[in-house]
Order: sequence, then C-alpha cells, then structure tokens
Amino acid sequence: MPALAPPITDLAYQECLNPVCSARFSIDETHFSCPNCGDLLDIQYDWDRAAVPADPRVFSARRGLEGNDPLNVSGVWRFRDLLPFAPAEKIVTIGEGQTLLQRADKVGEFVGLAPGGLYLQYEGMNPSGSFKDNGMTAAFTHARMVNATRVACASTGNTSAALAVFCSATDLGFRAIIFVGSGKIAYGKLAQALDHGALTIQIVGDFDDAMQRVQQVADRLGVYLMNSVNPFRLEGQKAIIYRILEALAWQVPDWIVVPGGNLGNSSAFGKAFIELVHLGLIERPPRLAVINATGARTLDELVGRRSLDWNSGLPKMDRVERYYGELDHDQVKASTIASAIEINRPVNLKKCLRALDFCQGVVSSATDQEIMDAKARVGAGGLGCEPASAAAVAGARRLVREGVIARSDRVVCILTGHQLKDPTATVAYHAADQEQFDKILGCRGVQRAGFANRPVVVANELDDIIRAIALYSGEHAANRE
Ligand code: F0G
Repeated sequence: MPALAPPITDLAYQECLNPVCSARFSIDETHFSCPNCGDLLDIQYDWDRAAVPADPRVFSARRGLEGNDPLNVSGVWRFRDLLPFAPAEKIVTIGEGQTLLQRADKVGEFVGLAPGGLYLQYEGMNPSGSFKDNGMTAAFTHARMVNATRVACASTGNTSAALAVFCSATDLGFRAIIFVGSGKIAYGKLAQALDHGALTIQIVGDFDDAMQRVQQVADRLGVYLMNSVNPFRLEGQKAIIYRILEALAWQVPDWIVVPGGNLGNSSAFGKAFIELVHLGLIERPPRLAVINATGARTLDELVGRRSLDWNSGLPKMDRVERYYGELDHDQVKASTIASAIEINRPVNLKKCLRALDFCQGVVSSATDQEIMDAKARVGAGGLGCEPASAAAVAGARRLVREGVIARSDRVVCILTGHQLKDPTATVAYHAADQEQFDKILGCRGVQRAGFANRPVVVANELDDIIRAIALYSGEHAANRE
C-alpha cells in the first residue's frame, strides 16, 4: 500500500519574508503582516512532499471541459499543484483566468520588435475585466477556509470591482466593503462596485490614504483584507505566468513586461519563477521589466536612482523611508492618467525587489503621453486595454529604443485591464472635443492625440454622409496602419 498523500493544507505554511525573522504560521491563521516583526508574509510549501507533475502538459490536459469541473475550467485551479494550500471543497471560483496570449505583430512593430516578437497576455477577459480575479479566487478560498465573511480592500478600482463580483457571484455569505479615493477611480470600475452591491466608501484622499485606512479598519473590526498584502492573493496571480508559459509550450520568453502599481503582480510573477525553476519545470526565468507611470514612479526612483535592491532579503529600507519623507515634505501625490497605478507607496515593494533580483529585472517609467499613444496602438492592433495596461507596452517600446530589449527578443506584455474600464480616458483621447481633451488629458501633460481616430460629425443628410465617407475613409485607413 502506498503511503497516504498528506492532507493538502499540511504542505503549506505562511512565512515572514524577512530572513532575520523567518517566523512561520499555519495557513489556518489570518495575518496580513508578520505578527512578530510586521514584514510581509509569503505562502511557502514543502515541495518535497508535494505531488507536482513532472510534465506541465498535465495542466493543459485538464482544460478539456468534459464534466465541466469548475476546478479545471478555472485558469488558476487547473494549476492547483503549484499553489497547493486549499482543499478542493473550499475553493471559491467564478471561472477566472480563461485568458489569451495573443501574438500582436502590429503592436510589436510600434514597440520596435521583429514580427513574432510581441505577445499580449489579455487579462481583460477575466469575469470582472482585470487580472485581479486570478488573485481573488485564491484569497476568497483562504477566507472561506478561515470562515471569514466580511471582506475589504482599498482600491484604484479593479481590486474593488473583483471583490464586488466575487461577493455577488458566489452564494457563500461574503459581504464587500471597499475603500476608494474620491474622484480617483475610473467610471467603469466604480460602476462595477456599485452595481454588484459593495458597500463603497469614498474617502477624501487618494489610494495611498485608502490603503492605510483599510488596514486599520481590518485590524480594528477583524475584517478579512483582500489587498495584495494578503499573500494568498499573490498565489493566485502566479497563474498568469503559468498560462503564458503554457501558451508558449513552456518555452520561456526573453521578457515579461508588466505595469507596476502596488507591485502585487510583479511580486507574484517573481515567486512563480523561483518555484518553477526550483521544481525543474523551467530552466531559467525570463527577464522582468516593471513599468511605472512617470507620475507615480516610486519603484523606478528607488531602484533606478537610489540603488535599492533585494540585498538577500534585507533591502536598505532607510532609503525608502527617506524617499517617502521627501514626498511628504514636498507634498507630492501620485498623479497619472493611468489611475490604476496612481500609487506612491507600493505595499509589495520588498517582494518586487526579490522578483527583480531573481529575474535580472529592470524598471522604467512611461509618461501619460506615451501611455495614451500606446493604448491607442493596442486598441488599433486588436483587443484593447485600459491606460495602466498600456504602460507595459509604452515601457517595452522605451526599453527597445534604449537597447535594453533587443529587436529580436520575444516579449510578453501583460494587458492587465479591459478597455471599457476607463472609457473617459479613451474618448478624451480620440474625440475631437478640445475642451474635453484639455480637461482630462491636457492637464496631465498629454499634448497631442497622435493616433486619434476622430469621430466625423455630419449633418443628417444622405449626400453629406456619403461625401463624408468618401472624404474620410482614406484618412481613416491611413490612421489604422
Ligand atoms: N494594471 C491594472 C489595470 C491595475 O488595476 C493595477 C492595480 C495594476 C496594473 C498594478 O498592479 O498593483 O499588482 O502592481 N490595481 C490595484 C487596484 C492597485 O486597486 O485595483 P500591481
């Protein structure tokens, strides 16, 4: 008789990221920082006892929809052996992660890459329209494991949308409380929070303020926190990488390029690569590029100019505190059209440094002009995205121009959120209304809509309409080149 496989929760534990502390906690406990030293927590596994398939094609074979098993339909849980913390009966899934990796030659040309060089991982196809669902399924699963029902987050919009969707789409008694900065969230996302019935608290302040408050509220009221300081969130977000590798037949690309806000995604990606190399499923990680918006460029400043690095788990945090002190002193607030990444105090900074260290990462920034132009090119090239996602494409373009990414490299940019999340920015860019352009984009330094596809205003007369089509269709076609 073979020995019984250990119960699945036995394999997983929580561990403090700080190597001086390294305190461990059971996954049956709920902590959003290390109770010993306050640092971030990681989920770790005893991989020697885990039954991870040696051949990753096993994950793809589960994809067959025969039987419609929700765990195999989910683009997160069909990789469940790589995040083995949850008993199957506790898993909370709404069909997240059925997303596409798209070869995107037209956008690749804009970025400066050879044909076949650029792929876009289209996370806007998730049920709530952004990559957040990958993390929510894992965090909701843990919440269910510890019998939490009141769940909260601070958000620039997508986390709150995902939280609201998960609460309303599951019949498990979850109640959503979300904190957003007033006037700081794109309409598509606010619409989701409201429509899905979340208690929506708009505080006077920005995301960084809301983040501080939600942590205090979670402490005080014992509410379960769904931001990416929750280490279970990041376990789910590792699956974005698994799906990319799967789509590339487990051939590692040269680069993964991701926008950086609170730095949960980049942190999760780094952890995924550390584990995949450890497990022998890939030989080497790709290089990682994290792209800030110029108006919220904490990571770029700290890594690029102030030489902050992982330093074997002991980054020089005094440099971070000094920078934050300067921001406070100068009353600098994050400000970018890419509202999803309008964040100056990224909570996962340390984990992102680990990811950059393991993946020989680089950090860059994109201006709002570059972001909006890249967004228009992404839209014209096929599936669209919201401004924050376009930062990845704009950043890749900049890195190609600087010679960091070679023209012949194979690059995957993560399109983190759906085009319809922020119609205001899109319409302001394309529409001819100068007043609207100035109000929404001009005030942020965007001077021209280089790739605008302007609507043509015509009298309601058939001849005028036909004349307009004749007059403008040539120009329109040129615009789409
Ligand atoms: N792209 C989109 C569309 C986002 O919504 C976010 C973050 C990011 C990129 C940045 O990802 O935080 O993992 O570095 N949105 C969070 C929110 C902060 O509240 O929805 P990150």
